[in-house]
Amino acid sequence: MATASATTYRNHVDGQWVASASGQTFENRNPANTDDLIGVFQQSSAADVDVAIAAAARAYEHWRLVPAPLRAEILFKAAQLIVERKEAFARDMTREMGKVLNETRGDVQEAIDMTFYMAGEGRRMFGQTVPSELRNKFAMSMRQPVGVCSIITPWNFPMAIPSWKIIPALVCGNTVVFKPSSNTPLSALNFVNVLIEAGVPGGVVNMVTGDAEVGTAMTTDERVRVVSFTGSTNVGRIVNQASAPTFKKVHLEMGGKNVVMIMDDANLELAVDGCLWGGFGTTGQRCTAASRVVVHEKVYKRFVAEFVARAKSLVVGDGLQPETQVGPSNSEAQLQTVMKYVRIGQDEGATLATGGRRLETGAYAKGYFHEPTVFVDVDPKMRIAREEIFGPVVSVMPCTSLEEAIAIGNGVEYGLSASIYTQDINRAFQAMRDLYTGIFYVNAPTIGAEVHLPFGGTKNTGNGHREAGVAALDVFSEWKSVYIDFSGKLQRAQIDVEQI
Ligand code: UN1
Repeated sequence: MATASATTYRNHVDGQWVASASGQTFENRNPANTDDLIGVFQQSSAADVDVAIAAAARAYEHWRLVPAPLRAEILFKAAQLIVERKEAFARDMTREMGKVLNETRGDVQEAIDMTFYMAGEGRRMFGQTVPSELRNKFAMSMRQPVGVCSIITPWNFPMAIPSWKIIPALVCGNTVVFKPSSNTPLSALNFVNVLIEAGVPGGVVNMVTGDAEVGTAMTTDERVRVVSFTGSTNVGRIVNQASAPTFKKVHLEMGGKNVVMIMDDANLELAVDGCLWGGFGTTGQRCTAASRVVVHEKVYKRFVAEFVARAKSLVVGDGLQPETQVGPSNSEAQLQTVMKYVRIGQDEGATLATGGRRLETGAYAKGYFHEPTVFVDVDPKMRIAREEIFGPVVSVMPCTSLEEAIAIGNGVEYGLSASIYTQDINRAFQAMRDLYTGIFYVNAPTIGAEVHLPFGGTKNTGNGHREAGVAALDVFSEWKSVYIDFSGKLQRAQIDVEQI
């Protein structure tokens, strides 16, 4: 394995590209072909985080006072730069993350959309003005930045998710310390690079690569005021606990076990297309993935026959090849999780209708490939129907009514996304009302959220916050209510009550 020629990438701290204090590094390899070394990145420690947080805290005193429309101008420029580099960024992303090129183009596009959308907030960021209960008194509220934000992101949307967090943080006037997943540091670096090129001043965005030690320092340091994390529910719990003693604002976006409900009046072809895209898009590695499908018994057989046949014919391979429909899992660990759950499903007595094996010969020998896998006749109580797998595995189960489908849909610990296929508007609205999730779709799969609506979920998926849309501003700003008395005398609220 040739390492000599690989580029070594550095952290970005206080406006400089710097090596980690310890000088330690890690390798980033292509999950479709582990001989392909993408680059060497800094294995940082708490010492590096300390310097980055100090830089962010200093830069905050300047950045918070830059008028929001000017901050936004820089962000508009950044969005434009990403537009120009979209293809190159998508290729880098497929190489380091594995998902097919069309999807990495979509990921970069999502970062473009979010950056343009949030830059627009620089001229809005609306507060409220309300009438005062006293004469000659003015009352209003305004958003204020919070301070240094720790941003911790996963590998499945390596540019989109950082943009969901970093851009609203910046437009609100905060500064950032950013730790991307060690599996996708190049996409993170590409994103940080355009921010710097666009004119984000030194210290405002700091990127520190590394593992848990970095994350721990970012969540425990008292100078950090906001933590925004996307990842597993287990790590989210640790992040929340680490952040609690210093009362940080914590935004968590975690696991999902999203359901597609297919009613007996559904357009079945459409439902099959949706379940393939929702279940196997991004190799099932989305928190919004359609990993559960509940089908009305009247159409169950027909749906299963068609869905299994189509899943079987999906082309697995290197995401850079045009014919590939399903790329590799992102890492050996991720693939091992997939294989573990395939065994669990079989042990639980579910019927393995297609897939179920690692692909490891020929073109697959150097990567983390797995067959698209469908379990049918799954019982909602089985672990494969309740636990997040984050891979190309879909569990299909029958139901006898809409009410039963809704009960199954709600019967998991997560609440991110859900969907229904039906032609009946009454059923669609009932399901929309009764599914306890943060996102709901009618006649579409559970994936495909757009940047200008809130994104997030209920129960163990989140902790009550949302990102994207205007909701993101609530994570990265604090309200200040302001009263201006221009009466020239003491007026006492709630006491000087006027008689009309
Ligand atoms: C994720 O699954 O981690 O709605 C994010 C979607 C994408 C974002 C998914 N726009 O599926």
